[in-house]
Amino acid sequence: MEGTFEPEIIVFACHYCAYAAADLAGSMRLQYPSNIRMIKLPCTGKLEVIHLLRAIEAGADGVYAAGCLEGECHYLKGNLWARKRVNHVKDLLAEMGIEPERVEMYNMSSAEGAKFAAAATEFTQRIKELGPNPVKREGVSPHAAAREALGGVAMPDEPLASAAAIVEEGHAE
Ligand code: FES
Repeated sequence: MEGTFEPEIIVFACHYCAYAAADLAGSMRLQYPSNIRMIKLPCTGKLEVIHLLRAIEAGADGVYAAGCLEGECHYLKGNLWARKRVNHVKDLLAEMGIEPERVEMYNMSSAEGAKFAAAATEFTQRIKELGPNPVKREGVSPHAAAREALGGVAMPDEPLASAAAIVEEGHAE
């Protein structure tokens, strides 16, 4: 199973830092797994427990929030609230018999393209080792479910052209 399992991972990314870091990773020609699907947020402080749970319930194999460095959130404590919510979801998952390691919080600046790529790589490997989400269901899109749960909080997807080119074609423009 481990050899063929390609996890579906949802990333709730602050547009000030992680989303920009992903773009930078692309322009630096850094590779990272194409397993991650990003949802852009104005700040990870907008992320509620229910959004994380909804993604897991809809079958995401792993979910993480990627916010600004501590002390650098544009809304002061948004990323600290996000970390608390992630930790709370870890506790809830453990109570439900689901591995708490399926949820995580990372912090990075917009200048840390390498850190973005490393987080995506480390987390994807972690989920590959855990195996599929036990509540995965056919025909349900975790990305769509998480977006729907977020409603107007989620920002429109912006294609990360350079990163996508690297993942899919092995080179950048
Ligand atoms: Fe980036 Fe708050 S503005 S996490």
